[in-house]
Amino acid sequence: MTKRIRAFDAEAIHAGNKGLAIDHDAVARTVDELLDRMTLAQKIHEIRGCQAESIDGLYYAGGDESLGIPPYRMVDGPRGARAGTATAFPVAAARAATFDVELERRVGMAIGLEVAAKGGNVLLAPTINLLRHPGWGRAQETYSEDPFHMGAMAVAFVSGAQNHVLTSPKHFAANNLENTRFELSANIEARALHELYLPHFKRVVTEAAAASVMSAYNRLNGVYCGEHPELLTRILRDDWGFTGFVESDWFLGTRSTSTALIAGLDIEMPAPYRFTDELLHEALESGELDEEIIHRNARHALYQKIAWRLDQPETPDAGVVECAAHVALAREVAEKSIVLLKNEAEILPLDDRNGVRIAVVGDLADTANLGDRGSSFVTSSEVTTPLAGISACVKRAEVEFFSSDSDFATLGEFDVSVVVAGLTYRDEGEFIPTAQEEAEGGDLARGGDRATLCLPDSQRQLIERVAALSTRTVVVLEGGSAIVVQDWLSRVEGLLMAWYPGREGGHAIADVLFGVANPSGKLPVCFPTADNQLMDWDITALDVPHDLLHGYRYLDHHGRTAEFAFGFGLSYTRFELGDVSISRSGAGFRVLVPVSNVGSRAGASVVQLYVSCTGSAVTRVDKELKGFGRVELEVGETVELEMELADNDLCYFDAEPGQWRLDACAYTIRLGFSADHLGTSTTWVFDGTDWCPSPPG
Ligand code: BGC
Repeated sequence: MTKRIRAFDAEAIHAGNKGLAIDHDAVARTVDELLDRMTLAQKIHEIRGCQAESIDGLYYAGGDESLGIPPYRMVDGPRGARAGTATAFPVAAARAATFDVELERRVGMAIGLEVAAKGGNVLLAPTINLLRHPGWGRAQETYSEDPFHMGAMAVAFVSGAQNHVLTSPKHFAANNLENTRFELSANIEARALHELYLPHFKRVVTEAAAASVMSAYNRLNGVYCGEHPELLTRILRDDWGFTGFVESDWFLGTRSTSTALIAGLDIEMPAPYRFTDELLHEALESGELDEEIIHRNARHALYQKIAWRLDQPETPDAGVVECAAHVALAREVAEKSIVLLKNEAEILPLDDRNGVRIAVVGDLADTANLGDRGSSFVTSSEVTTPLAGISACVKRAEVEFFSSDSDFATLGEFDVSVVVAGLTYRDEGEFIPTAQEEAEGGDLARGGDRATLCLPDSQRQLIERVAALSTRTVVVLEGGSAIVVQDWLSRVEGLLMAWYPGREGGHAIADVLFGVANPSGKLPVCFPTADNQLMDWDITALDVPHDLLHGYRYLDHHGRTAEFAFGFGLSYTRFELGDVSISRSGAGFRVLVPVSNVGSRAGASVVQLYVSCTGSAVTRVDKELKGFGRVELEVGETVELEMELADNDLCYFDAEPGQWRLDACAYTIRLGFSADHLGTSTTWVFDGTDWCPSPPG
């Protein structure tokens, strides 16, 4: 019998998530009893951070020994604990390329465990702002341009991490332009907001019981997110049933006193600037603020401390930090995240034979390139560079390194040149204007948004010079998101996207180059042919209209073909889909599809399910991802992949009266290995009451 694999096994993903095991009635009683014993001053203490600077990477909030209330101890971030040294995992954009929810759950668990070992109890991650444009400076911190893909990865991370610590998905919401993040207004109508920018936040709250949420710096429709009652209360609490606390983003995330508190901002971080005793008492005395609001927000702040028994922390042994298992996991993720984009005449995998001469070119080959140095920075005690990884992997071939300013005259004597090129924290990342001076000086530079998706000139010229002189050229790109490659792509034979691959990245790159690992990563963002293929992108904008179109949705709508489509990635083997079977199952569909490895190497691929609507009452984009599953197959092996497609995922958001609606129309389900290459399709029609399959033809 053919083995069956579930694309998303909810039970396995949520196993051990402490947030899902809370006895809410009991917690509510305890919190209320506690609050009855608290003075106003004690409540106020619970709604703010304790000091501007972290102490050993920990940001404290609240806590009162006399009442037995522990403080929150918050630690960044999305690719590992930012406290002392810790395992530096590949960035979230890389992990997203694995499309592997089980793996992402394990990464969440590992980071959560290390945060707990550092004495932290809240992990300030994951970053789940939709990648509206790949030029966003913090693109590397988030998972995807697609909300369905983002939601699945985020839920897996949160449930994994919440085996050990509380999580704080961020930044709520629509924080997707960096340089103007403190002022800009993301202007989004209800439909696009609910269908694109919020669904993944909803999933981490409703499915994975995320314990807290960090509000965003920016404004949404003119109102700062940190004082947005619709976001922080009506949607988050009233609609989604959130029981945790909302903390502000740091410093400029809290813009007011009464307005923010009333809107539902529970904790000002990292220290009181707007929630000072003076301002609070002034507001209470003037009648602008009711004590009830402080009571309510303190209750939100205390709730998870009680629910998670933070007064009885289990601090794991410090030995878990950068332990062998976590280092091995970082390598596994890096290997699975690398995307093979071009492999002309099967230049890859490279030969490791006696007599083969390989030139490894470019300063980045010899650089520990872990990504952003803003709040997601992780200090690693060791980093394997691509050059070190290649040197360790190669047994027989001869490897010679050429720095970027070497004399390349002899490159033609080598069998192949491997150029490592791309971006660093200087080109993209968190942008802190006051730190701009540091940019001049070096290490603390923060890159901000990318005005262009093309490589910096030095990197482009490097690739072009090497390609002109080499017999054959393979480019390994590092960076946090899409890069325009068109001007030099035809001059190279091989291309790998390696992202910021974490501390073990060099080993992973070498394993893929030499075929020890078969590449299986798929793009979580489409790579356009040129900047102007995507929407207008102005990194100085202060007002940004958001609609239903960005990424592959935008390209589809304009009939444009990406250089590399969303979900695209090659392998050293080949996969095929068999006959799909789709049947109704509960309030949705069960999709079964056989997947076979018909090539000559073991490997993995990602089956993607997209849905298109015809005859809808409202405008629909051409197609949307609504399911995916990663399968690992031996040569000649076939497995049956099982995906669930819920009716809820087919609904559109009807702005008036603000409800999800399942439209009576035809839904075509298409399966394939990337957004631009979909094979089998089946159509089902919903008539408003019942579903029936549409006859073929
Ligand atoms: C970032 C957050 C981060 C916080 C604390 C802010 O500037 O936007 O993502 O968690 O700093 O470091």
